[in-house]
Amino acid sequence: MKVLVTGSHGMLGTDLINLLRGKNLKVIDAPHEGEFDVAYEDEVLHFILKCMPDVIINCAAFTDVDRCETESKIAYKVNALGPKNIAIAAKRCDAKIVQISTDFVFDGHSGRPYVEEDLPNPLSEYGKSKLEGERNVQNNSDMYLIVRTSWLFGRSGTNYVEKMIELAKKNKELSIVNDEIGSPTYTVDLAEALWTLIEQKYEGIFHVANEGNCSRLEWARKIFEIMDYNINIHPIDSSQYKRPAKVPLNSVLNCQKLTKVTGFRMRHWEEALSAYLNKQ
Ligand SMILES: NC(=O)c1ccc[n+]([C@@H]2O[C@H](COP(=O)([O-])OP(=O)(O)OC[C@H]3O[C@@H](n4cnc5c(N)ncnc54)[C@H](OP(=O)(O)O)[C@@H]3O)[C@@H](O)[C@H]2O)c1
Repeated sequence: MKVLVTGSHGMLGTDLINLLRGKNLKVIDAPHEGEFDVAYEDEVLHFILKCMPDVIINCAAFTDVDRCETESKIAYKVNALGPKNIAIAAKRCDAKIVQISTDFVFDGHSGRPYVEEDLPNPLSEYGKSKLEGERNVQNNSDMYLIVRTSWLFGRSGTNYVEKMIELAKKNKELSIVNDEIGSPTYTVDLAEALWTLIEQKYEGIFHVANEGNCSRLEWARKIFEIMDYNINIHPIDSSQYKRPAKVPLNSVLNCQKLTKVTGFRMRHWEEALSAYLNKQ
């Protein structure tokens, strides 16, 4: 099987490539730098038709949620038009497209973990552009897998864990939001789940995140505990933390469908976080 990965130098893309290279597959790495910009249809078609992959995993995205508010044109080009271009090219070579999406397609008002059939209602430009990306994939492909995930951390990208460690090295006291709830997810574990879904030939929409959930504050507390940092944390609510994008307050994803159909179970986020931090 020939698998092409876009955004392959990003946080998820890097771990995915590492995983796939250990399998009996032909892996094609399509990083942003140089030859592959998902926003340009001709470029995407040319590259993909030259490789003729069986599966295309689209990890390319404009992921800076706050910048998406002020640079929404770029957000739509990368997050909405990009998946459309890839879906069109995938159809031309009979390939499956695997589109990575986000918990931010939901508004966070549900009061229970979101299942795949729940109605999206994004609050931010990032969430809206990613939802348009999902719909473009559904409308332009006969063979697709859409995987929504949340709160990613991994070794090849700037993420919340690294930001907290950086802040803790410079401060003894920190104010952290305690009313934003989600499920931190390790990109190494997400890559395993993605491969399981692909190998077992599933299609449609799936939610994939590490098990359990927490507030931003509880996440930070766990990071400091594992790192043995003594930080005095002041809880604040999200209205006290001003940022350009409006984000869902409770975007926990229900991932039971993944386990039910594949037998694959994501480990608890605390276990995944320990694995990540102990590797550093
Ligand atoms: N990070 C999270 O917390 C989170 C949560 C939920 C869902 N997701 C989704 O998970 C996926 C992977 O996220 P991630 O955190 O691994 O992202 P990331 O680290 O920001 O990586 C994204 C990659 O996409 C590339 N890219 C950007 N614009 C491109 C373009 N026009 N053409 C081709 N490549 C382009 C970037 O390259 P450059 O750096 O060179 O621009 C980068 O390598 C994305 O779909 C994201 O929306 C992420």
